[in-house]
Amino acid sequence: MKSISVFGLGYVGAVTAVCFAHKGNRVVGVDLNPMKVNSLENGRAPIVEDKVEQMATEAHQSGRLNATSDANAAVNATDVSFICVGTPSQRNGKLDLNGVDRVCKDIGRALKQKKTFHWIVLRSTVLPGTTESVVIPALEAGSGKREGKDFAVCFHPEFLREGTAVADFFEPPFTIFGTRDEAQAESLRDLYTWSSSRFFITTPKSAEMVKYACNAFHALKVGFANEIGTICKELKLDTEIVAKIYVTDTRLNISPAYLKPGFAFGGSCLPKDLRALTYRAKELDLKLPLLESLIPSNQEHIERAVASVLHFRKRKVGMLGLSFKPSTDDLRESPLVHLAKRLLGEGCELQIWDESVALGRLIGSNRQFIEDEIPHIGSLLCEDASAVIRSSEIIVLGTKALDKKALSAQLSAEQGLIDLVNIEKENRCSDRLGYEGICW
Ligand SMILES: NC(=O)c1ccc[n+]([C@@H]2O[C@H](COP(=O)([O-])OP(=O)(O)OC[C@H]3O[C@@H](n4cnc5c(N)ncnc54)[C@H](O)[C@@H]3O)[C@@H](O)[C@H]2O)c1
Repeated sequence: MKSISVFGLGYVGAVTAVCFAHKGNRVVGVDLNPMKVNSLENGRAPIVEDKVEQMATEAHQSGRLNATSDANAAVNATDVSFICVGTPSQRNGKLDLNGVDRVCKDIGRALKQKKTFHWIVLRSTVLPGTTESVVIPALEAGSGKREGKDFAVCFHPEFLREGTAVADFFEPPFTIFGTRDEAQAESLRDLYTWSSSRFFITTPKSAEMVKYACNAFHALKVGFANEIGTICKELKLDTEIVAKIYVTDTRLNISPAYLKPGFAFGGSCLPKDLRALTYRAKELDLKLPLLESLIPSNQEHIERAVASVLHFRKRKVGMLGLSFKPSTDDLRESPLVHLAKRLLGEGCELQIWDESVALGRLIGSNRQFIEDEIPHIGSLLCEDASAVIRSSEIIVLGTKALDKKALSAQLSAEQGLIDLVNIEKENRCSDRLGYEGICW
């Protein structure tokens, strides 16, 4: 068991303090607010949350849970300090780090006198880079000691939800330690010997970003459900039935599908159906800003690909892949066709290879689409992938349908490669400089 100090006795800090004490650790809570300190010091919870009051009383009676306003005493009496202070929004939305800065100074001063190694574990939600650019420098400046030698810092995001905070603390979706030294972080696992959750040890920046990705995704889900519900209601549909059915698809809907960063969506359905749905919403005088934002967001992503190509300041571009999915010749609304058109507009010399696309075989709406978008497409298509690779200064990889060996054999060190399909690392033809994606 470890002895733990918890700085900040709000929702996160109070639950952290009480739950660790419940698991047998010796815990001291620290807060600037004397009422919160008094409350915990008397075995009462400083927040209203299911089970916390009872657990606080029990832990206090057993002598494992105390509170103080003396940061120095708390740091010197413990092995690990959890930082759980608030990180509110400023009026303009910027994250207010005053609380984090102040608590780091307090802990830093206390560390000056400490003879033994100390862990500082940041649980407050902070933007990527904060642990390394704000927290560690403040602790080093305050203590005159070096992170990694005399003390170590870990960013350890919290995923509890108010109302079910205790249950969430004991069964989080995952436990993440973001540190500069992965080996050192192993020792923090001792705090969670009782936990069956998945553990991830990564860099502080990645851990900081995971927290924002999770909250942004949760907000996106709520917004999505509400907008779909809104149009259902207006169409006099039973929203519950629609939602109940679409969440049962765990292959494409509630799953990792479509969540790998790569290129824009396209094809004969997604753009068309989004346009139809949002147009219908407009007819019904509904504002659905989330759904309406998807096509502009997608177009912006194609523009990022254009900018990545132009960034090389070279003109000869070879596109590998044109249809919206490998092994099909469906070009309708393929984002690669839009990219090709934009690159031609920017004056690039384009050559395109796609094993499934032969102009002579295209018929119907598919042929009509490509002839409308790029009338001289025939002169750009080439049947020989190697010839396209050899004659291009930049390769835009838009398909996984190409043999890795063939690709690596043809590429020269001077060529840039933009991988839009985000090929698995082990299957990439190269990991040299100049191999990049547009959102990874
Ligand atoms: N509330 C949640 O459900 C939740 C969930 C996950 C993550 N978070 C994040 O955790 C952090 C804390 O959130 P919260 O809701 O518990 O905040 P809160 O505002 O309820 O509590 C913060 C506490 O920190 C204390 N404090 C401030 N400076 C201090 C200092 N120098 N020394 C000691 N105590 C100090 C304040 O007095 C206050 O009691 C935030 O970054 C938040 O984004 C919150």
